[in-house]
Amino acid sequence: MKFLELNKKRHATKRFNEKPVDPKDVRTAIEIATLAPSAHNSQPWKFVVVRERNEEVANIAFGSNQDQIKSAPVTIALFTDTDLAQRARKIARIGGANNFSEEQLQFYMQNLPAEYSHYDDQQKSDYLALNAGLVTMNLVLALTDQGIGSNIILGYDKSKINEVLEIDERFRSELLITVGYTDDKLEPSYRLPVDEIIEKR
Ligand SMILES: Cc1cc2nc3c(=O)[nH]c(=O)nc-3n(C[C@H](O)[C@H](O)[C@H](O)COP(=O)(O)O)c2cc1C
Repeated sequence: MKFLELNKKRHATKRFNEKPVDPKDVRTAIEIATLAPSAHNSQPWKFVVVRERNEEVANIAFGSNQDQIKSAPVTIALFTDTDLAQRARKIARIGGANNFSEEQLQFYMQNLPAEYSHYDDQQKSDYLALNAGLVTMNLVLALTDQGIGSNIILGYDKSKINEVLEIDERFRSELLITVGYTDDKLEPSYRLPVDEIIEKR
């Protein structure tokens, strides 16, 4: 699908029908999503594919987000790894087995952990959130490309999600992505005219 067409096809899908989503399609979309760039190629994300505990996730969402999540056959909970040094070492460990050069190993095992140790909380938070945003956009477009609807949801109680899904506190909840098929005919939402958002220097 052409990029413009793909973007025009994507809408916030807020109501899903009964059609189940094939786990293989979800896996494929996640795999494609992870082609997204990330700072230092740190790939600090974790995707938790929720089916059985969807109702429990819905119960910690705010307002109408509850019904959206309840109607979705799948919700993907996106987390990021707050232990960036461990994440870098994980890449070295797994990538190393695939013949990383000495230089690459040194980068992930030493240089990167050393750099992360200087980050303050704000820097780390920005780092995680930005990388999460990029992979999320890729995921949503990858789903759209397979004809699968989705919505991105920030309105839920982040302080409860780790417990609900039994995810270690090392991982920070970023957002939820509902996934499914819809019978709704979705219309494009408003966008500011492009000249309103461009400045030239
Ligand atoms: C970071 C982010 C958070 C969002 N949170 C919610 C949410 O909590 N509930 C909801 O119904 N939609 C949420 N949305 C969907 C937006 O409302 C929607 O993308 C926007 O209105 C534009 O519409 P469109 O996606 O159909 O183009 C969120 C979208 C983004 C990118």
